[in-house]
Amino acid sequence: PDLDSLINLYDFEYLASQILTKQAWCYYSSAAEDEFTHRENHAAYHRIFFKPRVLVDVRQVDTSTEMLGQKVDVPFYVSATALVKLGNPQEGEKDIARGCGEGSVKCPQMISTLASCSLQEIVEAAPSKEQIQWFQLYVNADRSITDKLISDVERLGLKAIFVTVDAPSLGRREKDMQVKFSSKSAPQRMKNTSDARGASRALSTFIDPSLTWDDIIEFKKKTKLPIVIKGIQRVEDVLKAAEIGVDGVVLSNHGGRQLDFARPPIEVLAETVPILKEKHLDDKLEIFIDGGVRRGTDILKALCLGAKGVGLGRPFLYANSCYGKAGVERAVQMLTEEVEYAMRLLGVNSIKELNPELLDLSSLGSR
Ligand code: FNR
Repeated sequence: PDLDSLINLYDFEYLASQILTKQAWCYYSSAAEDEFTHRENHAAYHRIFFKPRVLVDVRQVDTSTEMLGQKVDVPFYVSATALVKLGNPQEGEKDIARGCGEGSVKCPQMISTLASCSLQEIVEAAPSKEQIQWFQLYVNADRSITDKLISDVERLGLKAIFVTVDAPSLGRREKDMQVKFSSKSAPQRMKNTSDARGASRALSTFIDPSLTWDDIIEFKKKTKLPIVIKGIQRVEDVLKAAEIGVDGVVLSNHGGRQLDFARPPIEVLAETVPILKEKHLDDKLEIFIDGGVRRGTDILKALCLGAKGVGLGRPFLYANSCYGKAGVERAVQMLTEEVEYAMRLLGVNSIKELNPELLDLSSLGSR
C-alpha cells in the first residue's frame, strides 16, 4: 500500500507480518518464552492516565529536548537492533540512518554491535555530520575486540556508547528457534555464522557472559564519550550506576526478549525517579527507557515520570523493512505528530513542563 495511507506504527507491524520472510519475522517479532514481559511492556502504559490541564495557549508546542549534552528535535530515538538486513536486504541500517536524518525532524539512531552493515557504512549514510548516532556495545570475551570497537566509534564521531548488560546469554525466543539461521545478513564481524536453532543463538556466541560492574568502570577510563548502561531492571542497579558515575542508564528488558517476567520498564521508572530525587542523585545521570512504546502518549508518560529519552526497537525495524528510508522517516513523523497532539491536549508547550503531577498512577501497580 501507499505509504501515505498508513496511520500509525501498528500499520507497519501488520504489513511486516504479511510481507517479511519467515526468518526475518520470527527473529524480529519474537520475545522470550511465553512473551509475557513483551506484552506487559506495552500493556503497562495502558495503566497510566493523564490529568490534562485546560485553558492553556497551545498554539506553539516544542518537542525538542537534550540527550547526553546534545540538542535533539524529538524526545525519542531508534534503539539498536541487530541484523537489519534480514528485513531490508539491500540497505539495512543505512536506510535507518537516512530516514532519521533526511526528514524535517531528525531522530537519534543507536547502532548495534551486531549490525548487518559496517559501522563506517552506516555513519557515511547519515546525511549530516551533525546527525546523532550512538553505538550499542556488546562486550566480547576478547577485550581487544572491544577496545578496537571503542576506538572505531571515537574515530567515526559517534556521540555515546550504550553498553548492553541484559544479555549475558540471549533469551529463549521460541519462534526464532524454529528457523535455521545462516544468512547474508549476518554481522560483518561474524561472517559465516549459522545455527540450526535461530538467529539469536547464532549471535549469542559474540557476547561475554562474565561481564561485571568492574568492566564498566574500565570502559569509562578508556573513553571520553558518554557511557550509558542499557538493560537496567531494578532501582538498586540504577543507584549502583549512579555511584560508579556513568552518564546514564536505559531501563530496559530488551523488548521482552531476555528474561520473561522481568518487569515493565515504565513501572521501574515510576519507582526510580522519586528515589533518585530523595537521594539528590537525579542530576547525576540521565534515565532512558525502552520496550513496548508505540504511541506519542506512551512517550509523554515516560517523560512525565522523568525519562530523558524514549527508545523504540521493533516499530522502526518494521517501517524500514516495508518501505526503507521513507518508512523510517514516516515513522519518525507519525510519532512526532502524536507527541505534538498529545502535548496540546495535555496543556503543555515544552518537554521541560512535563512532570508526574500530569499523571494518574493509581492503576499502575495493579495487573
Ligand atoms: C533488539 N534489541 C537489541 N538491543 C541491543 O542492545 N543490541 C541488539 O543488538 C539488539 N537487537 C535487537 C534485535 C531485535 C530484532 C529486537 C526486536 C530488539 C533490543 C532493543 O534495543 C530494544 O531494547 C527493544 O527493541 C525495545 O522494545 P520494543 O520497542 O521493540 O518493544
